[in-house]
Amino acid sequence: MTQAARIAVIGSSNTDMVVRASRLPRPGETVLGGEFAMLPGGKGANQAVAAARLGGQVTFIARVGADVFGDNAVRGFEAEGIDTRYIVRDPDAPSGVALIGVDEGTGENSIVVASGANANLSVADVEAARDVIEGADVIVCQLETPLETVAAALRIASDETVETILNPAPAQALPPELLRMVTVLTPNETELEMLGGNAKALCGQGVGTVVVTVGADGVRLVTKVRTEDQHIPGYCVPQVVDTTAAGDCFTGALAVALGEGLPMADAAAFANAAAALSVTKAGAQPSLPTRAEVEGFLSAVRQGGHSASTSGSDEFIR
Ligand code: RIB
Repeated sequence: MTQAARIAVIGSSNTDMVVRASRLPRPGETVLGGEFAMLPGGKGANQAVAAARLGGQVTFIARVGADVFGDNAVRGFEAEGIDTRYIVRDPDAPSGVALIGVDEGTGENSIVVASGANANLSVADVEAARDVIEGADVIVCQLETPLETVAAALRIASDETVETILNPAPAQALPPELLRMVTVLTPNETELEMLGGNAKALCGQGVGTVVVTVGADGVRLVTKVRTEDQHIPGYCVPQVVDTTAAGDCFTGALAVALGEGLPMADAAAFANAAAALSVTKAGAQPSLPTRAEVEGFLSAVRQGGHSASTSGSDEFIR
């Protein structure tokens, strides 16, 4: 049996307030939607839950408020078998909240986040979890917590040659000294644009591999040494219900596969399958598949039940 990958996720936790509607509103417009749902989310939390459901041994380093949303979030992580010892209850800030509209035709979303306690995740919080970060196979960060906190986590990991994955979402420009500490960067095409648009140049600045997620088309792997990008195809699913957290699912799954020692191309194929399954269900964390579901899906693919995608849609893009 494969040994469980030890994964430390440093990042955000939100409560998602979700409304599905026949289409997303334009600026200044109101549209009437369907039922309201309150669901667990946050890019960091989604990635932690994805990795745990896929067999990772996960520690989540985060901040939530000392409120009912924080209580529910921590209870949810415990139910997933995630180590919650390094989740700080912030006495001064509320738990993070995300307002999410989902287009029920295309499954695409638009998201506004009130960061709350996520914005207070500090270098000291990360330092408190130093042993866990140093002992991990892979650490995973995103950009819904302060950049100095992300940098602190990457620094501890890269000093110990722990593999580091940075999901650069929500997108922002990143300094070269931070990029140098990133083993694997997982932008979508929009985020790549925000980072200068040139994956090869990011590798030139020290990123090991840039994994560009290109919707249902899968991913493009870009490294410094390969002259040609490598395309790892995505998977077609019968119906795209909701793309929320598909990118988070991809990143969490990639962490598990790399932590188990899979080569990058195989790890990306596994993560593509997990992300494909996630878009078939509504909500962020409720949509994240288990290991058995991903393995069942891949075995159906091998038997011809599902196809690798050749379309160019943006279904997996966050
Ligand atoms: O990536 C999806 C996530 O973005 C949502 O769960 C929401 O909370 C925001 O963080």
